[in-house]
This record gives sequence, C-alpha cells and structure tokens, in this order.
Amino acid sequence: MAISNGQTIYMKLEQKTYNSEAVCIRPDDELIRTDIAAYLKKHDQKDLLRFLTCGSVDDGKSTLIGRLLYDTHMVYEDQLAAVLKDSKVHGTTGGGFDPALLTDGLKAEREQGITIDVAYRYFSTDKRTFIIADCPGHEQYTRNMATGASTCNLAIILIDARQGVLTQTRRHSFICSLLGIRHVLVAVNKMDLVCWSEKVYEQICKEYNSTCAARLGFSDIHFVPISALHGDNVANKSVNMPWYEGSTMLHHLESINIVTDRNLIDMRFPVQYVIRPNLDFRGFAGTVVSGVVRCGDEVISLPGRKTSRIKSIVTSDGEISEAVAPASVVLTLNSEIDVSRGSVLAPIRNQPRVDDEFEAMIVWMSEVPSEIDRSYLVKHATTSVPGQISKVRYKVDVNTMRKAEAVSGSSDGLRLNDIGRCHLMLHRPIAFDPYERNRATGAFILIDRVSNLTVGAGMIMDRVTQEKRAPSQSRNISRMGSLVSRGEREAILRQRGCTIWLTGLSGAGKSTIAQQLEKDLIEAGHVCYILDGDNMRHGLNKDLGFSAEDRSENIRRIAEVASLLNDAGIICIVALISPYIRDRARAREIINQSRDGNKDRFIEVHISTSLEVCEHRDPKGLYKKARSGQIQDFTGISAPYEPPENAEVIIDALQMTPHESSAFLTDIIRKMGII
Ligand code: ADX
Repeated sequence: MAISNGQTIYMKLEQKTYNSEAVCIRPDDELIRTDIAAYLKKHDQKDLLRFLTCGSVDDGKSTLIGRLLYDTHMVYEDQLAAVLKDSKVHGTTGGGFDPALLTDGLKAEREQGITIDVAYRYFSTDKRTFIIADCPGHEQYTRNMATGASTCNLAIILIDARQGVLTQTRRHSFICSLLGIRHVLVAVNKMDLVCWSEKVYEQICKEYNSTCAARLGFSDIHFVPISALHGDNVANKSVNMPWYEGSTMLHHLESINIVTDRNLIDMRFPVQYVIRPNLDFRGFAGTVVSGVVRCGDEVISLPGRKTSRIKSIVTSDGEISEAVAPASVVLTLNSEIDVSRGSVLAPIRNQPRVDDEFEAMIVWMSEVPSEIDRSYLVKHATTSVPGQISKVRYKVDVNTMRKAEAVSGSSDGLRLNDIGRCHLMLHRPIAFDPYERNRATGAFILIDRVSNLTVGAGMIMDRVTQEKRAPSQSRNISRMGSLVSRGEREAILRQRGCTIWLTGLSGAGKSTIAQQLEKDLIEAGHVCYILDGDNMRHGLNKDLGFSAEDRSENIRRIAEVASLLNDAGIICIVALISPYIRDRARAREIINQSRDGNKDRFIEVHISTSLEVCEHRDPKGLYKKARSGQIQDFTGISAPYEPPENAEVIIDALQMTPHESSAFLTDIIRKMGII
C-alpha cells in the first residue's frame, strides 16, 4: 500500500478482486480505518459498468478519459507529476495541465497525437467500478471499435460543439447499435469554445435525434454539455452552464440502470470442459452465460438433443441450489447423457436454435478480403466449427447507415472494416440465439485456418432466410421458376393468398370457427382450405408428438404448406394450438417471406377462450385424461400456452358465435384487400 501525505491516499488492491490499476480511498472513508475487511467487501460488491468512448480524432476523447480519471482521484501522484511535466512538451493546452496525457499509454499515439488501438482503462467510485474501452475514431479502425463495443453496456459519443454531428458520429452510433449497445450518452464537448451556448447545444441534440437516434434501436439516449478540458459537467457540475439542469456525466454513469440489460430469461450453459476425476463424478464446467439454472431443472444438451435434469450445481465454495448469469460453475446431471466440450445446455422449454446455417452481420477485420466458400473456423461460445460464408447479401455503408448496393459477383467479398450481411454454412450444427437477444450465444468470430488470425466478428440475425427453408441436408439445389406469376394466379382467383392462423387452447373453438369461415368463403366464391392440427397429425406430421421440439416442427411444416398454398393464391385457414410465441413468429416469417415481398399474408388470430372454459367444455375428454395423468405435456395443464402479444385479431369465442366470428374475419380480410 502506498500512502502519500497529499490530499488523497491511494492503495493497490489485489489484481484478482479488481483487475484495476488503482483504487481511490478518500481520507474521509471511515471504514478503512475501522474495518478494512468490510471496506474491501463493500468495494467488491459494487457493480461494473463497461463503456466505450467514441469520437473523432480531435473531439477530446483522451482529454475526457483523463478528466474522468483525474476527477475521480484515480491518478497516482508521481503519474500526475509526470503529466504536468509532459504537458509542457506534448500538451495541447499551451503548457497547462493536459488531462489527455494521462491516458496516452501508447507512446506512438502520443507522438502522432492520435489513438491507435483499443485501450482499456479502469476506475471506480463509491457506487460503481468502470471499465472504459478507449476506441479510436478514424475510419480505418472500425474493427477496433467493434472489438471494444462488443462487451460494453454504454457508449459515450463525443461531439465537438464547434463541429456538430459528423459522418463519424453516425458511423460510431451505427456500430454501437449493431454491437448491441442500448445506452448512449452523447457528450457535447468543448462547450467553452462556443461560449457555453445553450442554443448550440440544443441544436446538436436536435440534429443527433433526427439523424442518428431515430434510425437506431437505443433504449435510452442522454445528452450532456461538457468541457472535458476544464472539467465542466464531467464529475462536477458546471458553473458556466447554469441553464443545464441535467446530471453530470459521472452521475449518469453511476446511476444508469443496466441490470435489466442482462438476459435472465434464456438459460444457456456452453460447456467448457468435462470434469471426470473418478467414475463417480461427471461434471460440466462452464459459465451460465444467460438466465438462471436451478437444481432439478430439465435441460437438453444441444446439438445432441439428449435430455436430463440438473442434479447439482458445484462451485469453489460448495454446492448451491441456483446459479445466475454470469456465474462460473460445474453442473452435474441426473443421467449419463452425451455432453462434451462445446455442447450447450438449455431448458427443454426454451431452446436456442440449432442449425448449420444462419444469417449474420459480419465486421471484417483482415487486410485480406473474405472469400466465398473458403473454409474459416467459426468460433462460437465454447465450440469451433469449420464453415463458409456462402453469400454476402449486401454491405452496409456505415456512414449513411444504409444498405450499399447488393453484392452481385460472388468474388466481391468483405474488405477490411466492411460490415456486411452474410449467409453462413457450417460443417455441423451449433446452438445459437439471435445476437439481439443474447450476446453470448449470438456472437462468433471467424478465424483464418492457415494464419490462425481473427478475420471477422459476427452477430447472428433473427431472420430465417429463403435459403434456410431448403432442407439443410440438401446442397447444390436451386429454385425452379414458373412461367405463371403469383399475380396471374391471383387475378384468375380474384383474391390474394393469405394465411389466417388461429391459435388457442385445445377446445377453444379454433376448428369450429375455421370450418364456418371456410364454408362462408367458399359460398362467396373464394378458394380456401383448412390445415387443422388434428388432421395434419394423421398424415404429413404423423411422426411428431407433443414435445416442444415436435410441436415446433409441426408448426414449421404447416407454415411451409400454408406458404405453398398461398403461393398458389389460396386462402389458408390454419387451426393449430401453436402454443409457443417463437414458433408462431417463425411461421409468420416463413409465410411473409413470399417472393413477391408482401409482408401481410400472415394474420394471427387468437381464439382467447380461457383454460377454465376449455376444460369445462372438454369436447374430446382430453383435459380429463391430462388431469389424471393419462396424457403427458398437455397444453394448459402440463405444458405451457404463450398467448400472442401482438395478434392481428383476438376473438372471444364466448362473446361471438362461430357465424359472427367468421363474418368478423371475412370483413377484416376484405378490408385488407385479400378478397
Ligand atoms: S400443436 O401444439 O402442435 O400446435 P396441434 O394443434 O397440432 O398442437 O394438435 C393439438 C390437438 O392434438 C389437440 O386439439 C388435441 O386434440 C390433440 N392432443 C393430443 N395430445 C395433446 C397434448 N399433449 N397437448 C395438446 N393437444 C393434444
């Protein structure tokens, strides 16, 4: 511990606990004198905010970071003395104290006056510990920014008050949004150079909101007018801008709520290592990257699809009954199933997608452009699988945040710092989630198999594409066109193909309404056809049961059939419990991804009859059987039903007769121009 006799006392804590350069202790911190253990514990329990700073070369990034470190007393006295001396030689402040020099760890950078790589800085206050990813601003370093942003909760976007919103501001904002950052703090810097003008500040806020914020999915954006050089509104409130009533940057960084950013819903446990010290113990070591795992939970091992239950959760402090992300634990299972390094354990009822193909946004990080069909190593969670970029769909112009023109020639790959939407094909399936939902299981890197260098970073998209709909086992197939267009078919039928998707509990009245609607439409001269769950399970889907997985496949197949019928111009009425939101969303995607670009072919109708009523009606006697345990996984009793959140139509079958429901739906499709 180094104690100075100046105003501030500094001490170095164990790397393990803090991984920080220095922790500041103010002399008035009584705890340190009275109970050092309690003091350390208090600091150990503080939460961590990771943020990145992005700005153009002269926006004052280094100055801002230096100012944050200085004002939070994170600077050693000898360091400070050196900087004061250096300020006279390298400083940009006419010999005065230049906070930028505190952060310029890289000599080359100091000499060139620019930042050349991502540098991580640490500081802490009474409320939080912070890690800053200091990212360079100039264009050629998109890859560094992507690297820095991938683990951050918040981004500080620096704008020079004299310059306003620049192309770089848009680029930084776009990359932050792409990398899943939800919180943005726009720091309008150098307010001293615009005479602390409220008008200038307001104008910049307005411009940022209209050019950047409107197009990107940030959940909150804050603006602060600052002068990093003089310290106004960084840690201390500015006396020069009394018109600004908001909080200082530091206060905002200390108080922003990031707990809700964590995905605590989808439990995912990528297995890092299988521990087998003796025949009696087989445990799986890894990190719960999202969600919560509890003893007794039913889990599935992916991609092998074997199920078991969690027997115990072991940590270095003994066994615990539940582990919350991001805990590192060893899990043991009730039965011996095939689990190895790279497998992902997930709840049976909430599984990631398992596939050997997906769409992703890729940031290219290599001087050597990407090549179609070249084999790269795709490193995802704890597994690495060879795979190819089979198509670059389009590149994104990061400056305008718009699609650049489609990539036509297959030879035109991604170049250094390009961002492109790509289709990937792997040699074997992996278990993943969309990046937007889960950063841990939605991100991957691409490694060159010869040089072993990381050449790209990818974020998996939510969309299932047209290619994906081809059975993944089939290669070298292409789509055959038709001499008749869908429009021509629809003109003859005088209707548009669409799918009216009735979802609801067993006994809710789906089939009855479907039958009435079919009859009414046919009588009015329209061509329509019912796909009913019970019927489909007699033929096309007779190999499927009622596990979550089988239901998912049931729904996928029916959506595919509906899509074909729609393509033929037929109105398709689907009556399916389809209990999971995710499966219905996928059906919507399959049906709406028609090649004619129409996005409103899927009409979700919730037949909202309550469980009590359905059970009371019990038309097939199945609820009774389910209650007595004769039927397993029965929706509403022993399996979940997730009601739609955004159904196009909700029908309360208790309030409307089947005739009325049919008339109501007919009216809706008429208004939509389908008939
Ligand atoms: S879905 O969940 O995959 O959409 P689907 O609509 O095809 O279900 O089939 C539901 C019908 O199967 C019910 O109407 C009922 O007659 C019958 N059924 C048999 N077992 C079950 C079960 N365990 N859960 C729900 N329905 C079942």
